Amino acid sequence: MTNSRIVGLGRCLPDNVVTNADLTRVMETSDEWIQQRTGIRERRHIERDEGAADLGAVAAREALERAGLTADQMDLILFATLSPDYDFPASACVLSRLLGVTRTPAFDVKNQCSGFVYGLSIADNFIKTGRARHVLLVGGEIHSTGIDISTRGRDVAVIFGDGAAAAVLSAEPDPKRGILTTHLHAEGKFAEKLWLEAATSRARPRLSKELLEGAKPRIFPYMEGKYVFKHAVTRFPEVILEALSACGYSAKDLDLLIPHQANLRISQMVAMGLELREDQVFNNIDRYGNTTAASIPLALYEAIEQGAVKPGALICLAAFGAGFTWASALLRW
Ligand code: ACO
Repeated sequence: MTNSRIVGLGRCLPDNVVTNADLTRVMETSDEWIQQRTGIRERRHIERDEGAADLGAVAAREALERAGLTADQMDLILFATLSPDYDFPASACVLSRLLGVTRTPAFDVKNQCSGFVYGLSIADNFIKTGRARHVLLVGGEIHSTGIDISTRGRDVAVIFGDGAAAAVLSAEPDPKRGILTTHLHAEGKFAEKLWLEAATSRARPRLSKELLEGAKPRIFPYMEGKYVFKHAVTRFPEVILEALSACGYSAKDLDLLIPHQANLRISQMVAMGLELREDQVFNNIDRYGNTTAASIPLALYEAIEQGAVKPGALICLAAFGAGFTWASALLRW
């Protein structure tokens, strides 16, 4: 079986920077509260009428250019998002139209913060089994139009930001290079701890005053923050160690851990638990907030730009999010 390798990355971040100070003008919060709890200083919010696929297309074009490939050379297009342009069709289909692709299979991976790593595993398996030679995988989110940007929704609203990033994966003949292993998990029993209930196939026919109004209207994302935190700091190390041990490595062998940028405090606790040095963990949540499916490729893009990823480096990508879902991928760069 052939390995797969990331051969090009791209990104798209809206120009509009929303600082913590900006948020204090529309809700009761403070820069101190947000930084202390989450490590976030600012995030991006779109200003134009754009969907996740619009940002994804910009990121995809850059990734394709860096890979030296064209959109019609892709054998599969995947779009990881929890904030698709439409309920249906998939943002992957909207993206393929924007890229001018006419026959390539395309579908969304709707698995929240773990979406990009799930997508990576799907891409890797298509390539491993010979079903695809080149796969385009995008992670993209527009959160700002779906959250409650007011004091009522402040626990969630301060955390999330908009953005997209893309990776092109190709077959890699060297079995010691590229994606070495991927591990995916889900436990639906905690679905309601971090979710968006309405409007959905179950709620739509019954959308009531009670769903739309009140202290916690169910048309906005809901999160039991402490509960999510507790599970995240357990599942992250578990799935990181699972990937490492599958390949005979331990945490000290890691050159770089790129965790989903959920919350800086979560990443710090995970790093501490695994006894990782500061230079072994990459974080950029301070500038972009939590961009869900886009956060890992956005961080990987920046880590490369900053010279933190050298050829031959052992890199772990790890995610935890709504579902709950959690996942990891180990890569030899
Ligand atoms: N600004 C100011 N005050 C706030 C804000 C805010 N933005 N949000 C909540 N508060 C208030 C609450 O109303 C509460 O006030 P009260 O004591 O008068 O009732 C107080 O701050 C404490 O609220 P808690 O929810 O207990 O705050 P906590 O210390 O748990 O921090 C947080 C909240 C940051 C969400 C935390 O629980 C957390 O980090 N959870 C992890 C979840 C996470 O990071 N999710 C990311 C998305 S999911 C993912 O990617 C995996």
